[in-house]
Amino acid sequence: MRKKIVAGNWKMNKNLQEGIQLAVALNEVLSKENNSCRVIIGTPFIHLASVSERIDKKKLGLAAQNCADHVSGAYTGEVSAEMVKSTGAEYVILGHSERRTYYGETPEMLKTKVRLALDQQLQPIFCIGEVLSEREAGKQFEVVRSQIEASLFDLSEADFSKIILAYEPVWAIGTGKTATAAQAQEMHAFIRGLIAGKYGKKAADDCSILYGGSCKASNAAELFANPDVDGGLIGGASLTVEDFMGIVRAR
Ligand code: PGA
Repeated sequence: MRKKIVAGNWKMNKNLQEGIQLAVALNEVLSKENNSCRVIIGTPFIHLASVSERIDKKKLGLAAQNCADHVSGAYTGEVSAEMVKSTGAEYVILGHSERRTYYGETPEMLKTKVRLALDQQLQPIFCIGEVLSEREAGKQFEVVRSQIEASLFDLSEADFSKIILAYEPVWAIGTGKTATAAQAQEMHAFIRGLIAGKYGKKAADDCSILYGGSCKASNAAELFANPDVDGGLIGGASLTVEDFMGIVRAR
């Protein structure tokens, strides 16, 4: 059966000292609780190695927010999947809308990144989602379908089983405007149907599909109560122990 997951995406926030402090504090709280979900934090690259040494990975998983689309070599400023893996991280967020929009990441590049991450035994948390104009035009299902097909559907069934999906309607990210529970459920059920069509019912039932976009402690329980919403990918509300744990406890 699929895992329930709450993953934080710190984005470009917190210097090294602040990041270590938050990770250690979260680890401490989690070590005293029996939470029913897998908790993960996605830190900037520079935090990974230091945080990795200080947390209990059974209680708190560690993710990068990106990796390069090349194995190694002359790509100044890039960080490879192998480098991410060598820090002790186990997951990598790929295809976040901010990467697609601000850094021009294409479905083709993301397909390569997914391949390279899997080759390093990193589990991708793969983000998909439509922008507002696409939803207003009724194209959200088409958009999400093509994002998934273009970057993931060449994977073998065994490789696909490692993918965690995160549906993040772009209009809900950082805007305070959350998808309604019904909108989230509708899209998550659609995505699960797509997976079932490609890889079969078991693969679909086993795939964790997270919701992201202005998820916070006050709306998490309602979103997570949907049968196809398996948890959340949390931006702003992952930056303090109190806010983030409010969401973890709602799961
Ligand atoms: P938000 O971001 O929770 O701040 O809306 C979510 C995300 O971008 O993953």
